[in-house]
Amino acid sequence: MWGFDARLAPDRVTLGERPSVTSSTAGGAETRRLPVRPLTSAAMRTLVIGGAGYIGSVVSSYLIAEGHEVIVLDDLSKGHDWAVPDGADFVRGDVTCLDDVVGAMRGCDSVMHFAALSLVGESMTDPLRYFRVNVGGTVNVLDAMTLTGCSRLVFSSTAATYGEPESVPILESAPTRPTNAYGAAKLAADHAISFACAASGLAATSLRYFNVAGAAYGCGEDHDPETHLIPLVLQAAARTRPHISVYGTDYPTPDGTAIRDYIHVADLARAHLLALGGAEPGEHRVYNLGNGRGFSVREVIDAARLVTGVDIPVVESDRRAGDPAVLVASSTRIQAELGWSPQLPDLETMIGDAWAFAQTHPDHHH
Ligand SMILES: NC(=O)c1ccc[n+]([C@@H]2O[C@H](COP(=O)([O-])OP(=O)(O)OC[C@H]3O[C@@H](n4cnc5c(N)ncnc54)[C@H](O)[C@@H]3O)[C@@H](O)[C@H]2O)c1
Repeated sequence: MWGFDARLAPDRVTLGERPSVTSSTAGGAETRRLPVRPLTSAAMRTLVIGGAGYIGSVVSSYLIAEGHEVIVLDDLSKGHDWAVPDGADFVRGDVTCLDDVVGAMRGCDSVMHFAALSLVGESMTDPLRYFRVNVGGTVNVLDAMTLTGCSRLVFSSTAATYGEPESVPILESAPTRPTNAYGAAKLAADHAISFACAASGLAATSLRYFNVAGAAYGCGEDHDPETHLIPLVLQAAARTRPHISVYGTDYPTPDGTAIRDYIHVADLARAHLLALGGAEPGEHRVYNLGNGRGFSVREVIDAARLVTGVDIPVVESDRRAGDPAVLVASSTRIQAELGWSPQLPDLETMIGDAWAFAQTHPDHHH
């Protein structure tokens, strides 16, 4: 069920060349690989900041599989040394220290910046820490780019920059009114990137992810604390958590639970490589990245029951403050401009890959 899927064949190649699929593997999250393309364009040397984390480790693996050189900079405050892929150079350092960033960036032609604090609740009780790391860190990345001559950036932005949407699906032209310090700091970082590109000719793309799910290259989600629905549901399935809480069953949705947009981390990885070749010098592009369709909390739990074959205890609770009924991305801009489209949009695939990963990496924290 989770074997190599021909639909993974890339829709457009990094830096504009035609792909040919030369290999495939079967397996599951441990072996899910994107098709390896022959190198038709020059190999890049890319600095991946936050490459020991969930998304950064998958994207690093993908870059290496594509024949690029990867340097990971991470302070391991949230990430794991085992998640840094073989074949990447690892530098332990802090993105809020300009010397660390400049040192790691020397000789790189591009940078992907994933390092951030990303717990919404914590951002409200400790907002300055969020601005220091998420904005200050990004300012250091931009400074280091000018100092080292590294001219291409892909930045992890977020759906939280929009806040409560007036309409769904959410377009990039939607108003940005973040409702928490996490989203506000990411939006401030996006603004810093825009002005820096205009002033110094850097080429940057911010990808605004919705809910990232699944696993690839043996790398998956292992956060502490975990706040994301799919890993929490799978912890309840594995009995490392007594039950899954469903917050709100009276939303104006077909089954009464909130609807969110989930995107497979392998689809996200492809978008990062496409984005590296997208923006022109002086340009900052912003793309929403989602599935284009949403799934309710109940649909996620039902799919997890199907995938794991176990019953998952559910406890229904009241809505949480600030949780909108529906958050779904419009990804039409990145589809039109970069030729990206989700190749693994099924919930069962995402949950199946996450489950395979969780079983080979039993929860380290409980
Ligand atoms: N996971 C999602 O669904 C999602 C959704 C929207 C946006 N994002 C954004 O994507 C990025 C990656 O998310 P993730 O889920 O992989 O998070 P993650 O916590 O797994 O990875 C972040 C990595 O950054 C590192 N880091 C944190 N502070 C650092 C610092 N000061 N210096 C150096 N390294 C530091 C951590 O150790 C970790 O390895 C984040 O910027 C996040 O805000 C994630």
